[in-house]
Amino acid sequence: MKFFIDTANLDDIREAQEMGILDGVTTNPSLMAKEGISGKDRVMQHYKQICDIVGNDVSAEVISVKYDEMIREGEELAEIDDNIVVKIPMTADGVKAIKYFSEKGIRTNCTLIFSAGQALVAAKAGASFVSPFVGRLDDISTDGMELVEQIVTIFTNYGIETEVLAASVRHPMHIIQCAEIGADVMTAPLSVIKMLLHHPLTDSGLAKFLADHEKASLAVKK
Ligand code: E4P
Repeated sequence: MKFFIDTANLDDIREAQEMGILDGVTTNPSLMAKEGISGKDRVMQHYKQICDIVGNDVSAEVISVKYDEMIREGEELAEIDDNIVVKIPMTADGVKAIKYFSEKGIRTNCTLIFSAGQALVAAKAGASFVSPFVGRLDDISTDGMELVEQIVTIFTNYGIETEVLAASVRHPMHIIQCAEIGADVMTAPLSVIKMLLHHPLTDSGLAKFLADHEKASLAVKK
């Protein structure tokens, strides 16, 4: 399963890259705003900086909602770097735009997916990725992971090549469940990915190893 990081924060992206676990980045307008990035030139520049760090897939979301504007904006985003994946919302105009980009060889990530039907339509239009939002479904007492499972089953049934990108991942168990189900990609904040590293037996085991080593060193010195 590919690990994407869901952020526009350059320090977090660098840290994940240095850990050697980073397969890509997803952003959205809220994450860009959180970093104080606004204005077309600044946004474009920021995406370029992210691409230069990652050297792999970077989802950049359009803020247009009308087909013609999505096309113009998406083409500009795609020109920033070969690794840009144009992120398009699941709307009728969005689906049409996905079809257009797929015919032009520009990769897309269909975002804000909350049902298997939406995922199927996006895939038929030629989306490279579909992003079911796990955490936001859980927030409204609906099992988000069940949706990921449903989409993986459907895509497997028909050999659909669109990758299932589990998004809105909120805790380490979401990541494990995505891997069990067979999601192609999961995207999460770095803080959530780092939670996977910890286990109390690792901490106590390491403390004991170091204490024993220290004891042995002192004995030699005496
Ligand atoms: C997906 O690409 C989105 O950027 C993201 O995963 C949304 O997550 P949230 O529900 O935690 O905002």
